[in-house]
Amino acid sequence: MPALALPCRNQAPHHNTGRPHDQFHAVDSLQRLHSSHKHPKTQARGRRSKLSPHESLVLPSKENLRISLHYFLAMKMTPDLGKLFTPYVMGPFKLPHRIVMAPLTRLRAGPRQVPTPLNALYYGQRASAALVIGEATYVAPEGYGYCDSPGIVTDEQVEGHKLLTQAVHDKGGLFFLQLWPVGRISHPSLQPNGQLPVAPSAIAPKTVRAATPDGYQPIPTPRALETAEIQSMVVEPFKQAARNAKRAAYDGTFPFHLPCSAEV
Ligand SMILES: Cc1cc2nc3c(=O)[nH]c(=O)nc-3n(C[C@H](O)[C@H](O)[C@H](O)COP(=O)(O)O)c2cc1C
Repeated sequence: MPALALPCRNQAPHHNTGRPHDQFHAVDSLQRLHSSHKHPKTQARGRRSKLSPHESLVLPSKENLRISLHYFLAMKMTPDLGKLFTPYVMGPFKLPHRIVMAPLTRLRAGPRQVPTPLNALYYGQRASAALVIGEATYVAPEGYGYCDSPGIVTDEQVEGHKLLTQAVHDKGGLFFLQLWPVGRISHPSLQPNGQLPVAPSAIAPKTVRAATPDGYQPIPTPRALETAEIQSMVVEPFKQAARNAKRAAYDGTFPFHLPCSAEV
């Protein structure tokens, strides 16, 4: 399996370059650091022959020092980290290296949970990951639970997703979409007709609150899904969402999976 997943944490522009400063700009730096480690003689002579003036400017930044430190520690802890930049065959896909972007809910979809050009910019900036996994996206209106998270149900949403896949594919990236219904982690204000969230069992979460248009709200006890509803409310929506993802030109999908032990 791919060796690492690096979620992005820093959205601020880089203080030196003014460019968006994200982990996958960092992937490029990390890859160059890795290459320079392969050339100790070059390093010993104090030359960074492979670095452009722009990169020499970027390297001393706090962020790159942090990455160097992570790289150094990771090399110490994981002797076969050298594999990180070797190709990986994942079914029909040939990944150029093994750094995968983890799915990260960003809550930045537009009205009606349609992905926007801002989301396309965000994912395009991360296309140098060997595989980008798009944030969890709802497969049915009842599966909506985090305000401004995206859906892939309506034609309008599918059109929005096309902007994202275009942005990643233009840069040669591979892009999967994560699909979910949120189950009980929702709120009537996000549900069709203000209904109760639907979940496998009628058990309210103990600690988690719902991200609603009016801020975080306590979650009511959900309605339990009937066995007879599994086909229409789970199986069919997942199938249709996978078809929609294909229409939007994603390279693949996979379901959101919360470990059974997760106590929320
Ligand atoms: C803000 C945020 C949003 C996340 N959204 C998702 C998501 O949509 N789908 C998912 O499977 N995991 C999601 N995760 C979990 C991350 O993908 C990742 O598994 C988790 O942060 C553990 O990795 P780490 O130890 O490197 O932080 C999210 C995590 C964070 C911090």
